[in-house]
Amino acid sequence: MIRVATTHASASAEPTRRDFLFIATGAAGAVGLAATIWPFISQMAPDAATIAAGAPVDFDLSHVAEGQIVKLFWRGKLIFVRHRTADEIKSAQNTDITSLRDPEADSARVKPGKDQWLIVYGNCTHLGCVPLGNEGAFHGWQCPCHGSVFDTSGRIRQGPAPINLPVPPYAFTSDKAIRIG
Ligand code: FES
Repeated sequence: MIRVATTHASASAEPTRRDFLFIATGAAGAVGLAATIWPFISQMAPDAATIAAGAPVDFDLSHVAEGQIVKLFWRGKLIFVRHRTADEIKSAQNTDITSLRDPEADSARVKPGKDQWLIVYGNCTHLGCVPLGNEGAFHGWQCPCHGSVFDTSGRIRQGPAPINLPVPPYAFTSDKAIRIG
């Protein structure tokens, strides 16, 4: 409608009354169109519910001390962010993966050059309880429900859980910040 009014008005040097009506109609249409479109545009901005439903989450690692485990939520799921000590890294790396129920090298569970940061989902892979950090024979996590034990790479080592704590999709956005999702 806007394009029609503009084309018609430029066809003659002196705008006629009919041109004015077209222009006026076009202008009113533009305002109406904008009024119609705006609610859709404003609805496109992510709100809190959308973020909770799955928008990426940025997390600043600089406040997580060595040896500390921080919990956060992404898509309603619990995530553990673990700042591993040198001993925890060494223990995770020196494990014979052929002895594991769910064989996975520690290097496949962390980002290259970021061995100190382990990011895993925080629910036990048996029935979903929340394992306790720095507990169990391997000093990773131990589940209080049925005793599953995870090592400092989040890999299942004892108990009924069938698989390792999964690693969520994430990337480093700087040396001390990650984006999950
Ligand atoms: S829920 Fe963790 S061992 Fe059963």
